Amino acid sequence: MGSAGMTGGSELVAEDISVTFATRRRDAGHRALAGVSLGVRPGEIVGLVGESGSGKSTLGRVIVGLQQDYTGTLRFGGEVLAHRRTRAQRRAIQMVFQDPYASLDPQMTVWKMLEELLIVHGIGENREARRARSEELMRLVHMPPTLLDTRPAGMSGGQRQRVAIARALSVGPQLLVADEATSALDVSVQAGIINLFADLRAEIGLSILFISHNLAVVRSLCDRVAVICQGEIVEEAETRAVFDAPRHDYTRQLLAAAPDLP
Ligand SMILES: Nc1ncnc2c1ncn2[C@@H]1O[C@H](COP(=O)(O)OP(=O)(O)OP(=O)(O)O)[C@@H](O)[C@H]1O
Ligand SMILES: [Mg+2]
Repeated sequence: MGSAGMTGGSELVAEDISVTFATRRRDAGHRALAGVSLGVRPGEIVGLVGESGSGKSTLGRVIVGLQQDYTGTLRFGGEVLAHRRTRAQRRAIQMVFQDPYASLDPQMTVWKMLEELLIVHGIGENREARRARSEELMRLVHMPPTLLDTRPAGMSGGQRQRVAIARALSVGPQLLVADEATSALDVSVQAGIINLFADLRAEIGLSILFISHNLAVVRSLCDRVAVICQGEIVEEAETRAVFDAPRHDYTRQLLAAAPDLP
């Protein structure tokens, strides 16, 4: 999507990231992340797997800038990301969540929602330019541009998730953090969104950190996989290596517990 100014090219490097949440008791707090290092190269899809509570979402939130209380260093395209980011840095890394119901205003047309964002970010000189870009975004997520004038309330779960992805893409990110972005969807609909992520990587060179409990999906979509256990990455390798020759006991347990891994 060259005309929308989306080009891949920056590597994310997270180094020694730790997050501690305060607990009610006056102890040291709960350590959700304990010295995590992880990279996502341009155009790469990296899976992040681990059981519930292992710290996946916390890491995703640190990377996208929503969790500002952390120690360690984040670099994007060689630049250190400060705890408060510049607008350009915020645009560069976007997030898609599990539940598009929660993140979309059901009563606002898709066009209004996208236009508002484009205005806030100073993208598109005038209404026509913003409309053209919104139509391009719809095509990018494989939706008919005519749906711009409809509201999420009347859409299917899959369409709503595509709208949420279009919204994330509207500001021209290079990296998308997808946190269980397909988990709430029916299996057939899920497959469409998975294909969409693969297409986005191919078409605009998008990098994706793909957080998921679904190991079958991770295996089919991701280039590399990081396995996180109690806030620590215990294994990180090419997808095939993780699935065919896991090195860590925790990874083996995770694979053994997966219901639909052939
Ligand atoms: N805002 C918060 N305040 C206090 N504790 C938190 C907060 N967010 C997360 N935690 C704790 O940090 C740990 C990691 O949580 P996180 O949500 O990152 O796990 P997760 O791997 O995403 O789990 P799931 O697979 O269930 O989504 C958990 O023990 C969780 O209870
Ligand atoms: Mg989570």
